[in-house]
Amino acid sequence: MNYPGRPRLFKFFARRSLSRTFAAMIRINENYTKLKASYLFSDIAKRVSAYVAANPSKPVIRLGIGDVTEPLPPVCLEALHAATDEMGRRATFKGYGPEQGYAFLREAIAQHDYAARGCKIEADEVFVSDGSKCDCGNIQEIFAQDVRLAIPDPVYPVYVDTNVMAGRTGASVDGRYQGITYLESTPANGYVPSVPSVATDLIYLCFPNNPTGAVATRAQLQAWVTYARQHKAVILFDSAYEAYIRNPEIPHSIYEIEGAREVAIEFRSFSKTAGFTGTRCAYTVVPKSLVAYDAAGNAHPLHALWTRRHTTKFNGVAYPIQKAAAAIYTDAGKQQTSELINFYLANAKLIRDAMTKLGFACIGGDNAPYIWVNTGRDSWEFFDLLLNRAQVVCTPGAGFGKCGEGHVRISAFNSRENVETALARIAAALK
Ligand code: MLT
Repeated sequence: MNYPGRPRLFKFFARRSLSRTFAAMIRINENYTKLKASYLFSDIAKRVSAYVAANPSKPVIRLGIGDVTEPLPPVCLEALHAATDEMGRRATFKGYGPEQGYAFLREAIAQHDYAARGCKIEADEVFVSDGSKCDCGNIQEIFAQDVRLAIPDPVYPVYVDTNVMAGRTGASVDGRYQGITYLESTPANGYVPSVPSVATDLIYLCFPNNPTGAVATRAQLQAWVTYARQHKAVILFDSAYEAYIRNPEIPHSIYEIEGAREVAIEFRSFSKTAGFTGTRCAYTVVPKSLVAYDAAGNAHPLHALWTRRHTTKFNGVAYPIQKAAAAIYTDAGKQQTSELINFYLANAKLIRDAMTKLGFACIGGDNAPYIWVNTGRDSWEFFDLLLNRAQVVCTPGAGFGKCGEGHVRISAFNSRENVETALARIAAALK
């Protein structure tokens, strides 16, 4: 049979296969090749899985990743059930919600987390999201490619890795990416870095700190705000663990510091406050008075940029989840979350006391759920020792940066029984 279209079709496929061979092809973002092969916690999970597979009769206790173990507070559960029922009735059903979050939650946050502490934050400066990890990772998108970065060491790996992915660094040389000013947290400075002697533009700070558990005083935070104002820089302040602060002198928010509204973005999360690691709800505050500049020196409000980014790439947190989050601001909610946090802090005290008794210098655990243990030896070696001899998982400090070497992080997120068993096993293993 004669098909008139055939010769043309043949030519099309011949041309296509030739172009595949010789011309441009799909290419990767080569910045990803600068990263370590896998994310720290995936790496640890693989090692632990291999150990468990090889030693099925030895139960492992996980004090590594900071994942909560206790159930949601009852107020959250009730709100979650009630809101789910609303979704099952035509009259109260909800489709897409506002990308930035429902007003009931944004208003509760502005009132209870900020106004109550004397901070001027409006409800429409709060952006509700599904996690601080995502927000801390995504925020860099609204800044120029060539901003100068200041990032702590040791550090939550997301701050570094997302900037590497975006192409803001050179290669990693001797455990450090070129192009980053590292803010070293060491025993010498009490694990709270001072402002650098050089100018930087985008500064990541986290207090109470992950991984060290250190907290920053008002004077230390004031020095950072003053530095940022002098250099027209922006501070990205991660305060995901603020609910663990028990020392009344320690600020919970960067906005408790004079002038911070002009230089800081703050990240908060319900994960560690109310057990939402699996439920997913967090928020980011971008004050309307905060600006950054274009190449011509014109100021642009970052609130407008983040609104554009958030509404374009995010479609809001589920209504029942936002209702559950809002429930923590009721009187019963405040009481229940405070009990939850006290429970983990009591675990933290047990861990810190036990490790101190074993002769290790420790910080954290008093205003944070993490204890940073100065082991004085290779941190992966210490991790392996605890895993193999005590069947306890910790996080090797080197995974958080060069200054983390010689330390491990122990997390207080587990049941009391598991924490007590883990500490008894560690004591026996290190005898
Ligand atoms: C951690 O272990 O550092 C936490 O799980 C980090 C996080 O919340 O993503």
